[in-house]
Amino acid sequence: MSQIRCLEKSYYHGILGHMVKAQNEIKESLKLIDIVIEVLDARIPISSRNPLIENLAQGKERIILLNKSDLADKEQNIKWKKYFENKGYSCLNVCANNNEDIKKIVETINIKGKKIYESKYANKKIDIKPIYRVLIVGIPNVGKSTLINKIAKKQSAEVGNKPGVTKAKKWIRVSSNIDLLDTPGLLWPKLDEKDAGVKLALTGNIKQEILDVEEIAICGIELLMQNKKYRSMFIKKYKLENEDLDVMPYEMLELLGKKRGCVISGGEIDYTKASNIFLEELKNGKIGNITLDEI
Ligand code: G4P
Repeated sequence: MSQIRCLEKSYYHGILGHMVKAQNEIKESLKLIDIVIEVLDARIPISSRNPLIENLAQGKERIILLNKSDLADKEQNIKWKKYFENKGYSCLNVCANNNEDIKKIVETINIKGKKIYESKYANKKIDIKPIYRVLIVGIPNVGKSTLINKIAKKQSAEVGNKPGVTKAKKWIRVSSNIDLLDTPGLLWPKLDEKDAGVKLALTGNIKQEILDVEEIAICGIELLMQNKKYRSMFIKKYKLENEDLDVMPYEMLELLGKKRGCVISGGEIDYTKASNIFLEELKNGKIGNITLDEI
């Protein structure tokens, strides 16, 4: 685990300047905003959460989107939604690519917006048409740009795995009373917590190039094997026999390598290739619907 810590640390220092810049940018944007939509990865609702958002978005109406719910454990989705609702947030399990979910998000913005408008203009005779101004925030890769594109029904925000990409500020008129800022608020991931760092890597929320893929893969295998349900999914996916199970995670990686034909000259296992295959399959939900932050 030491190498992971070390890599995390260097990455952390590398992005420190960006973190300060991002924080200032969000503070600036928030001056104009009524509703903050915080996007979390449904597979890691705690590890993908930046704790500073509580402070930054204080006093604003809040909506939490547990995005990529299509990849997460359905039972856990329900529990996490309740968890955030009990804390007083509006919370939705969503998949950014699902049009019904996008409709629900817009409906929730409208409900929140009306609440703001009614409390702001209670007992006042003002006949103005309300406009609710919305900002989407979250760490890289949780799906902010995809959500903005879908909500805006056009390809205006850049989508893809490019943490840190920023564009000039522009408002998107989503409906007659919703304006969405086209640039998401970029928060930084929790890299000072070991478990969070590993889970962020396993879900593809931090770049795998900066990590030791073999160590991350081994951590992933360990995590799956500790959970009865995920262990069965893993066994099924890799067609493992009972006698295969009584091995150390590194030997398990070797076995996966053999099963996936990751063999180099002399019959040696290519552990990097085996790790990358396992990590891609885990990240893309090919092993099953898995939530790594369990409640
Ligand atoms: P960001 O702005 O927060 O950085 O995230 P972005 O929208 O760029 O999305 C990151 C990746 O996640 C994209 O895949 C996108 O298609 C995918 N994604 C977003 N929302 C969902 C969702 O609800 N479900 C699923 N399954 N995927 C979603 P990508 O470009 O292929 O990147 P990567 O997956 O290779 O990292």
